[in-house]
Amino acid sequence: TGAITLDPGYKNSGSCKSEITFLDGEEGILRYRGYSIEELAEKADFLEVSYLLIFGELPTKTQLEKFENDIRKYTLVNEEMKNIIDGFPKTAHPMGVLASLTSALTAFNPKSVNPHNEKEMYEAVCKTMGKFLVIATWTYRKSMGYPLNYYDNTKGYVENFMHLMYELPTGPYKIDSTVVQALDKLFILHADHEQNCSTSTVRIVGSSHAGLFASIAAGVSALWGPLHGGANQAVLEMLEEIHKNGGDVDKYVLKAKDKDDSFRLMGFGHRVYKNFDPRAKIIKKAADDVLNSLGIDDPLLDIAKKLEKVALEDDYFKSRNLYPNVDFYSGIIYRALGIPSEMFTVMFAIGRLPGWIAQWKEMRVNKEPIGRPRQVYVGSPLRDFVPVEKR
Ligand code: CMC
Repeated sequence: TGAITLDPGYKNSGSCKSEITFLDGEEGILRYRGYSIEELAEKADFLEVSYLLIFGELPTKTQLEKFENDIRKYTLVNEEMKNIIDGFPKTAHPMGVLASLTSALTAFNPKSVNPHNEKEMYEAVCKTMGKFLVIATWTYRKSMGYPLNYYDNTKGYVENFMHLMYELPTGPYKIDSTVVQALDKLFILHADHEQNCSTSTVRIVGSSHAGLFASIAAGVSALWGPLHGGANQAVLEMLEEIHKNGGDVDKYVLKAKDKDDSFRLMGFGHRVYKNFDPRAKIIKKAADDVLNSLGIDDPLLDIAKKLEKVALEDDYFKSRNLYPNVDFYSGIIYRALGIPSEMFTVMFAIGRLPGWIAQWKEMRVNKEPIGRPRQVYVGSPLRDFVPVEKR
């Protein structure tokens, strides 16, 4: 009823009220439940932040220990899921496999959660956090042709990521604490970002009262695209290409400015930030720290810094307020940790999972209506049907 306001890409439309994440794009401020991202990245761990996002408050020590234990209880994934993985070619992109496996979890966990029942909701949260981490790493094991691995109950959640990815039957895998700390920080920085494309997808799918796994599977697909989470893989491929071609960053800045060229500087620009992405600042410093402490000298980090400098001094980027975003430096850290670029967006998904869950839960608890945008029809007016033999 009434006139429809057209807003492609929802640049100026709010879809909900939310208490989860505060983002000020002009000032470059990001807070989860009122806590600054800088402080959380420095002082909290990923499960603490997940609990905060999902349940609204930082957990007490007892709540946190219980949360970690309860997640552990749900880390076994049905063995029949392996048949599904077997059906994929080794070359399948891990994000495609992850979306399918997340969707397949609905078949093995068919009971849909009642979001108004706190106990049921808590169990669904733990189940999702547990199983998703395991299947996310299975996408890598599949691509390598390695046997699938199981969660190790003697290790923490983030440590388990390394264990699940890299431990082989041929011998124990030593987990480096620098690596675990870096991953913890990266997961925290990715954990929520209010109504971004994948989160909006999770909310809109869930708004039809589709289940949590089904909604998250849709979120994984939305995250995959290069304009969203897929940018981290695209950044690294761009930096590799620049390196291969002699490190001429000016050439790529020129290309990005050329309106006849579809090339964009990957890892630059953001729908909401018109200032530095606060996550990029933290990740840039973390990239330096991680490479130093692992004793790695990566020419791609130098190229990234040079590229950032040239772009930030360029009128095209300045006038459009284009700054490095979260994806610009994260790939350099992942690469230093030995994670292949095809897995970068899966890393983003593991980090974003608590955000998706928190947003799904908030949407259902608040009894939001089904998401159903309108349109402005610009097609043909009424016309008569012409039978096929007369066309
Ligand atoms: N390189 C070159 N030009 C750019 C770039 C870029 N990376 N980003 C935006 N522009 C230009 C764009 O061409 C447009 O110019 P004009 O006004 O002359 O037409 C102007 O800046 C505004 O861009 P837009 O595409 O209208 O902005 P948007 O809000 O629709 O898109 C974006 C935001 C993130 C999709 C876009 O900046 C982009 O494609 N960036 C590269 C991909 C990327 O890094 N994505 C990760 C985003 S952050 C984390 C995440 O979501 O995963």
